[in-house]
Amino acid sequence: MAVASLVIDPAFTVAPVRRRTFGSFVEHLGRCVYTGIHEPDHPTAVAGGWRGDVLDLVRELGVTLIRYPGGNFVSGYRWEDGVGPVDRRPSRLDLAWHSMEPNRVGVDEFMAWCELAHVEPQMAINLGTRGVQEALDLLEYTNVPAGSHFAEQRRANGVADPYRIKLWCLGNEMDGPWQIGHKTAEEYGRIAAEAGRAMRMIDPDLELVACGSSSRAMPTFGEWERVVLEECWEQVDMVSAHAYYYEDESGDLASFLASAVDMDRFIESVAATADAVAAARKSDKVVGISFDEWNVWYQQRAESRPPTGDEWPIAPVLLEDHYTVADAVVVGDLLISLLRHSDRVFSANLAQLVNVIAPIMTEPGGAAWRQTTFHPFALTARHAKGDVLRVALDSPRVKTAKFGEVDMVDAVATHDPDTGATVVFLVNRSVDQTVNLEAAVRSGAATLSEALTYTSDDPYWTARADDQSVLPSANDSAQWENGTLAIELPPVSWTMVRLAG
Ligand code: AHR
Repeated sequence: MAVASLVIDPAFTVAPVRRRTFGSFVEHLGRCVYTGIHEPDHPTAVAGGWRGDVLDLVRELGVTLIRYPGGNFVSGYRWEDGVGPVDRRPSRLDLAWHSMEPNRVGVDEFMAWCELAHVEPQMAINLGTRGVQEALDLLEYTNVPAGSHFAEQRRANGVADPYRIKLWCLGNEMDGPWQIGHKTAEEYGRIAAEAGRAMRMIDPDLELVACGSSSRAMPTFGEWERVVLEECWEQVDMVSAHAYYYEDESGDLASFLASAVDMDRFIESVAATADAVAAARKSDKVVGISFDEWNVWYQQRAESRPPTGDEWPIAPVLLEDHYTVADAVVVGDLLISLLRHSDRVFSANLAQLVNVIAPIMTEPGGAAWRQTTFHPFALTARHAKGDVLRVALDSPRVKTAKFGEVDMVDAVATHDPDTGATVVFLVNRSVDQTVNLEAAVRSGAATLSEALTYTSDDPYWTARADDQSVLPSANDSAQWENGTLAIELPPVSWTMVRLAG
C-alpha cells in the first residue's frame, strides 16, 4: 500500500476562504435557463416561473455567485430585448449556439432569481457586437437609483431600487476566433479599458474583470494577458481564466485525474504575467484572477454540437454531459487547486449550473437531480470556512502521459479560528492504489467529526435521475489520536475530513 504524510498548521495561512470561490454560471445556452431554472408550467414552479425543486438544489449546492448571461451568448446579446413586458419582447437568433432566444428571462428576472437563490450576480457585458455605450446603458439600468432614462425605465418595469451589481465581466473569451466580435489583444485591451473607465464614471465601486485567455492551450496564452493588462491595468481588478478538462478518447484516466496540476500551472502563470505587468509599471496593485469558467467538459461529444441550417430551436439539448465518479473526483481536485490559490483567485465559477455541463439536471415537467459532481462541490462550499491553509505534503508519485510525474495525493485544509474547526480535503489520483495517509494536525483540533469519501469500484459509474446510489459515505478507516489523523484513501477518490476544536 502507498503511504503519504501531511502536516497541517494554522500558521501556514494562504488567505481567507473567499465565498466567491463557490460561484457558478447561468448562460442562455441549451436548457440552462429555459426548463433549467425557469419553467412556469412545472409542478414545483414558484412566482416568476422558477422551478422550486431547482432552487432547493441550488441552495443545497451552496453556490454564492452566478455569472450571467454568457459565455459566448453575451457577445451577440442585446440586453434591452430582455426587459419590459414579456409579451412584447422579440425573439432573436442566438448565433453562438445556433438557437432561438425568446427573451422570456432577462436582467430583471435573473436578478429576482438571484434573490431567491441567495446568490450574488456577476454580470457580463457584450463587447462582441456592442461597445461602451450599451455597457453604460445596462449599468445605468441596473445601478442608478432614479432620474435618468434607463433608471426610470427600470422603475417603470417595477423595480424601484437599483440592484447595484458590483462584479462585472468586460466581455467573454475575446481571444477566441469562435467569439462573435473576436479581437486582437490590443483591440480588446483598448475597448475593455474604455468600457471600464466609463463604467466607473457611473459607479466607482465596481469590480471589473478583463478577459484573459479562454484556455491555457490557446496559442496567444500569456502574451494575451500581458498586452490586455497593459492596456487596461488602471481599470480592472481581475483577469479571467477558463479551463475545461476531460478524459481523452484513448482512456488516459491517470492524466485526467491529474488535471488540477494543469490548473495550478495555469493560475500561477497568469499571476506571474500580471505581476510582470505590475513590475514594468512600477505598480503595487495586485490583479486577481476570476476563474470564471471551470469544469469537466467532453466538448468533442455529439451533445456539444449546436444545431445547424434553418433549425433555430428554443432551448435545445446542448452540452448535457453525464458525469462519472472520476469526473467528480477531478472536480473536487480542481476545487482544491482553486482554494490553494485563494491568495490570487479572488472569484471562481463552476460552468455551468443546470443541464449544461452542470451539477444539477432537470427533466422538463419532471424531476431535478444531482450529478456526481454535485457532491464534492456542495461539501466543499458548505465546510471550507475561515482561512485556507497550505499543507506540507509528502506523497508517492504517479506517472502521467500529459503531466509527467505528479503527486498521487492532493490536499488542502481550512481552519476556522472562530469555531476551531479544521477541514481537510483530499484526493487520491491513483487509478489502482490505496494510499495510507497520516496527517499531523497542529490546529488544536480535539475530535474527529466526520470523514466522508466519494468513490466507487467503477470509476465510470454515472448518476441518473433514477439512480443516485453512489453518494459520499463514511470512511470507517479514519482514526484520530493525539493530533494525528490516519485514513485510507481508495484509488480514484475524493475525501473530506472534519475535525472539531
Ligand atoms: O460554458 C460553455 C462555453 O464555454 C461558454 O459559453 C464559453 O465562454 C466557453 O467557451
